Amino acid sequence: MIATDTILDFFLQTRKHTEDICIPLETEDYVVQPVVDVSPPKWHLGHTTWFFEEFILKKYVPGYKLFNDDFSFVFNSYYETVGKRVIRSDRGNLSRPGVSQVYEYRKYVTKNLEHFITEKELSDEIHNLIEIGIHHEKQHQELLITDIKFILGNNPLLPEYSSDFKENPIENFQREWIHIPEGVYEIGHNDNTFCYDNELGRHKVFLHDFEISNKLVTNKEYIDFIEAGGYQAFYLWHAEAWDWVNQKNIKAPLYWHKIEEEWYQYTLSGLKKVILDAPVTHISYYEAFAFSQWKGLRLPTEFEWEASQAYFKWGSRWEWTESAYSPYPGYEKADGALGEYNGKFMVNQKVLRGGSVATSNHHTRHTYRNFFHPYLQWQFTGLRLAK
Ligand SMILES: [Fe+2]
Repeated sequence: MIATDTILDFFLQTRKHTEDICIPLETEDYVVQPVVDVSPPKWHLGHTTWFFEEFILKKYVPGYKLFNDDFSFVFNSYYETVGKRVIRSDRGNLSRPGVSQVYEYRKYVTKNLEHFITEKELSDEIHNLIEIGIHHEKQHQELLITDIKFILGNNPLLPEYSSDFKENPIENFQREWIHIPEGVYEIGHNDNTFCYDNELGRHKVFLHDFEISNKLVTNKEYIDFIEAGGYQAFYLWHAEAWDWVNQKNIKAPLYWHKIEEEWYQYTLSGLKKVILDAPVTHISYYEAFAFSQWKGLRLPTEFEWEASQAYFKWGSRWEWTESAYSPYPGYEKADGALGEYNGKFMVNQKVLRGGSVATSNHHTRHTYRNFFHPYLQWQFTGLRLAK
């Protein structure tokens, strides 16, 4: 467990970092919601604040006065336990509360929580809740970045967010296949540091011997797939993936534009030529799978990934795995609203492992299980092959 002064610093740094992410935004950027999966930045700022107010201040500070009685309706995401809320697709229709009021809300809750952490002897339960609140906000920091990218990347002017954001680090080493011997491996979180409940239920998994690439698939390799007709070859795709390709007219990763026979991609630094040696990103699971089929290879399972991750570098792309997001044996949901954090999403989603250029510091780890629907492309997703 983290000491009180450390958790206070961790909390304050996290709150500040969220706001730092928004510095380059114009006021109008805070409000729009181009698709249902992308929330307006203003909503993320309010929702992460509501989380601390709802689950800690309201419950544990005697006489705590809510900043605004209506904000729970506006900023609750999906907690049925807490009550009714604005439906997800309507988040972009909220012109009020205004951006400045949301920043006032942040200040109010940050001050109150700072006071609470400093003044009170924290029980283990409260300490845990604050840690969850911090990590929850870090998750939203990544969503803020990817949602800002979607908002700006779907604006016809393709505006730059920041010239400093490095989203295409190159893996400057030779491809090698790492051989992992057959055996029984322990999977899941195993120490007293923070983790989410979906990483618990450490258990043994038998793995046949396999090989996994030390490198992510690059843009160059992905262009080869496009040029070989990968998006026209039905036999590489799952049935629902093939429907997706045709209905949405998918021909390349998200944010790619073909201009005079050359591939460009929208990045947070504006429209740039695709860097051939950089790892491919913004692909769906459908695309990752089809690519692996075309190569005559496959995606690793999340267990293979965890058993081999110490032998390669990870962290620039969320790596699609072949594993369905489901509970580990012995998985236990928390009581109350926080039991809704992970468990209820364990259906129809794929696990991604690793982390990305948008993941905040001290957030991910080798047992971290991210999860998304197989058609989604707007996260910094990529793939690593196995055989
Ligand atoms: Fe959330």
